[in-house]
Amino acid sequence: MVGAGLVDRGPIAVVGATGLVGEMLLDLLAAVGVPRAAVMALATEQSVGRTVPYGRETLSVRALDEETLGGAAVAFLATPNPVSARWGPWAAARGTFVIDKSSHWRLDPAVPLVVPEVNAHVLTPAVRLVATPNCSTIPLAMVLDVVRRHRGLVRVLVSTYQAVSGSGRGAVEELAAQERARVERAAEPAPRVYRAPIAGNVLPECDAPGADGFTGEEWKLMRETQKLLESAVPVVATAVRVPVAVGHSESVAIQCTSAVTADDVREWLGAAPGIRLADDPDRGIWPTPRQAAGTDDVWVGRIRSDPYADDTVHLFLSCDNLRKGAALNGLHILQAAIGRGAISA
Ligand SMILES: NC(=O)c1ccc[n+]([C@@H]2O[C@H](COP(=O)([O-])OP(=O)(O)OC[C@H]3O[C@@H](n4cnc5c(N)ncnc54)[C@H](OP(=O)(O)O)[C@@H]3O)[C@@H](O)[C@H]2O)c1
Repeated sequence: MVGAGLVDRGPIAVVGATGLVGEMLLDLLAAVGVPRAAVMALATEQSVGRTVPYGRETLSVRALDEETLGGAAVAFLATPNPVSARWGPWAAARGTFVIDKSSHWRLDPAVPLVVPEVNAHVLTPAVRLVATPNCSTIPLAMVLDVVRRHRGLVRVLVSTYQAVSGSGRGAVEELAAQERARVERAAEPAPRVYRAPIAGNVLPECDAPGADGFTGEEWKLMRETQKLLESAVPVVATAVRVPVAVGHSESVAIQCTSAVTADDVREWLGAAPGIRLADDPDRGIWPTPRQAAGTDDVWVGRIRSDPYADDTVHLFLSCDNLRKGAALNGLHILQAAIGRGAISA
């Protein structure tokens, strides 16, 4: 998938290689056979000297600077917003194909926001900087895109159940430390990433609320979904953090422009790439984050016709937020860009 021609033009830089998304990207690149010599692991000065796994091998971490990033054929930015804001356009202006995981560029009208299953057509040879959506937006948009190919969408209501890995490595460590303290009946470490303890808890905010009461995370889901679908369909979200390490879930109500049944939606989603049905409640088969973690698919189940409105269906989904919700979507963007001739392999 990544040919010698691309690799000859320069390395593939993974910036943020010591973080959760960067680590997953390295795992995926190794798994698809990109040679270790073609990959560069970049992070802050503080991480220089560390090594990170690359398949069965390791890579030494180097500092992100003009010398290391300049000349990369491809750069995955798995970094905080200010880092992506600075280095994304810098590298793109030098011909690097940049795939950014942060939220900084997602709603910029000049920057394509891409889930290849939904809108690969926006990847053209002129594009050098691409944004990949929020980890809850990606599975939601994939499901809605399938439904809207058969029925127009009127309104979508979504509540999320988001894993702590969505907040980075620090949050995973925070949950683990609090869980350990609860088991050992020791003093619980004070929350640092979240505003309240996450162990044994459910937090009805995924980041700070704005003046309208909605959080930034909720607005990401709402606006990014509209951008991906190229539609003004109202999407109203409640984003909730749960004490799960990996795997975001969502409860979704989809109102369509005409009658729709659970069987319709089951059939449409069952045939869609990247979506796996887990929908046999009598046998206890439904999506769970534990099941989705480590897999590439968006798992969908609990598909039900609304008992009061024949234009509405309800469903539940789970997806690995670090794979299709983040790193894997980045890799899929690279593969789609190569496949469509937007960059040569
Ligand atoms: N986690 C998810 O599920 C998810 C999903 C979608 C999008 N995202 C987004 O993806 C990005 C990375 O998330 P993450 O969860 O992997 O975070 P993380 O685990 O906290 O890792 C952050 C990474 O960025 C590096 N970094 C920070 N400042 C830097 C700088 N000035 N120069 C170079 N590297 C720098 C860190 O390097 P050091 O170790 O050297 O500090 C680390 O490798 C964020 O924008 C996040 O919002 C995450």
